[in-house]
Amino acid sequence: MSTSPKISTETKAKPVTAPDIQAMKGGEKICCITAYDYPSGIIADQAGVDLVLVGDSLAMVVLGRADTLSVTVDEMVHHTRAAAQGVKRALLVSDMPFMSFATVERALATAHRLMAEGGARAVKLEGGRTVVEQITALTEAGVPVMAHIGLTPQHVARFGGFKAQGKSAEATRALIEDAQAVEEAGAFSVVLEAMPVEAAQLITEAVSIPTIGIGAGNVTDGQILVYHDALGLFDRFSPKFVRRFAELGEDSRKAVEQYCAEVRRTSFPGEKNTYYMPDAELAQVRKIKVKPKKK
Ligand code: KIV
Repeated sequence: MSTSPKISTETKAKPVTAPDIQAMKGGEKICCITAYDYPSGIIADQAGVDLVLVGDSLAMVVLGRADTLSVTVDEMVHHTRAAAQGVKRALLVSDMPFMSFATVERALATAHRLMAEGGARAVKLEGGRTVVEQITALTEAGVPVMAHIGLTPQHVARFGGFKAQGKSAEATRALIEDAQAVEEAGAFSVVLEAMPVEAAQLITEAVSIPTIGIGAGNVTDGQILVYHDALGLFDRFSPKFVRRFAELGEDSRKAVEQYCAEVRRTSFPGEKNTYYMPDAELAQVRKIKVKPKKK
């Protein structure tokens, strides 16, 4: 670990709040990305994103699981707390795991933990008309809620896979109703995942809260991407809607290969990476006779 003080965690800008995000509807595009720990949190924050989501995609891109269903509230709290160490300006939102908001009571308890223990400033939950009671109760309790409709990965078993949604007029009407229901319940924004751009356009016009798209074209009020997808750190699959802005997975593998090669040819550590005995001690140290221990 380097002790270089080059990266400062202090940013002077005013922290972004949920009402700030809500007020950005129809204005400058809202830039959001996921993060799961201190390094990704600080990088996202210093890059100037408006909102950082500790997504339950954690289960797949960090913990290596097949889907998001098994992630626990404990795991979300743990990673939210780590990300919160790096996120000083952006709005830090934490995802409510599968079934952790199945009832109003559970939703309140989960949000309490994510905010009080994890340091989140808002929560996200998947669902539309089916979760309005939870959104209403959370909002009344003072918890800013981001909703999430369209391809909701917690419903992957019901959808039969990670499939785009809203691909008919009837399905688009249902999504519009979902978006209006979560707005009415008090959500400050809504994620639209994996749907035709025409559906996203209609939903964006139908609500007065910001829509944040992922695989919903460029018509939404903002965009979100999974950090590991955007930086080329997740190689299991890459949805059509992902653009890789870097190839850090490949770069990291090459860096570790180089490290191994230099260790093997003894060019690492070099002089600059080595501590030396103070001159005053050197003569005495050279007199030390070492007897190899018998095996
Ligand atoms: O879990 C997650 O990362 C998400 C985003 C893709 C919106 O829900």
